[in-house]
Amino acid sequence: MITHLPQVLTADELARARQLLARAPWADGRATAGPQAATVKHNQQLPSHSDQAQALRALVLGALDRHALFFSAALPRRVLPPAFNRYAGAANHYGNHVDQAVRHIATGPLAGQRLRADLSCTLFFSDPASYDGGGLVIDGGWQPPPIKLAAGDAILYPGTSVHRVAPVTRGERLASFFWVESLVRHTEQRRILFDMDTALQQLRQRDGESAEAVALTGTYHNLLRLWAET
Ligand code: NI
Repeated sequence: MITHLPQVLTADELARARQLLARAPWADGRATAGPQAATVKHNQQLPSHSDQAQALRALVLGALDRHALFFSAALPRRVLPPAFNRYAGAANHYGNHVDQAVRHIATGPLAGQRLRADLSCTLFFSDPASYDGGGLVIDGGWQPPPIKLAAGDAILYPGTSVHRVAPVTRGERLASFFWVESLVRHTEQRRILFDMDTALQQLRQRDGESAEAVALTGTYHNLLRLWAET
């Protein structure tokens, strides 16, 4: 399941993020890649201890916290501290790779812990008209179109997918990327819960708090009780 999360950032947050990114001390992205990914990774990243990265992390985590669709689709247990990257100039693409399944958390309140990366997320800071190329391509059973979203929007996709970022041939592509450990490990179970939650919200909008909506909400929570690992 690939989910588009619209307007994760407000216009004010986006402006603040861009101010921080304009003064960012970019470094070679290969520093944080595993052995396979390092051979195909050609981008820049913000060192996690930099002032800019710390301020940006707080901004992104705060925005995610109030995003109902993110919660419904990801059912987050823990979110890995967001990181930040730049594709431009000679460091302009990231070839086919799979993200590591288990990630060690280096900074923040979860430092020293390991987190299972069930979901990957990319949050876009750059206006898609300001750069060429740079689409995120997630392999599936068909030829998917490259994903380039509006600034402030994010894409959430399973960590199991082979994916790449196409070369940026004009301008720069600034984004945040991070992983989510879900309360529900299995993609199919997460999808059933997401579909049910979405239908329930529509039912409530149409009929209010009906007896059927209450009963189905109970079923939703009973499924979550069966499947969630806390
Ligand atoms: Ni990746």
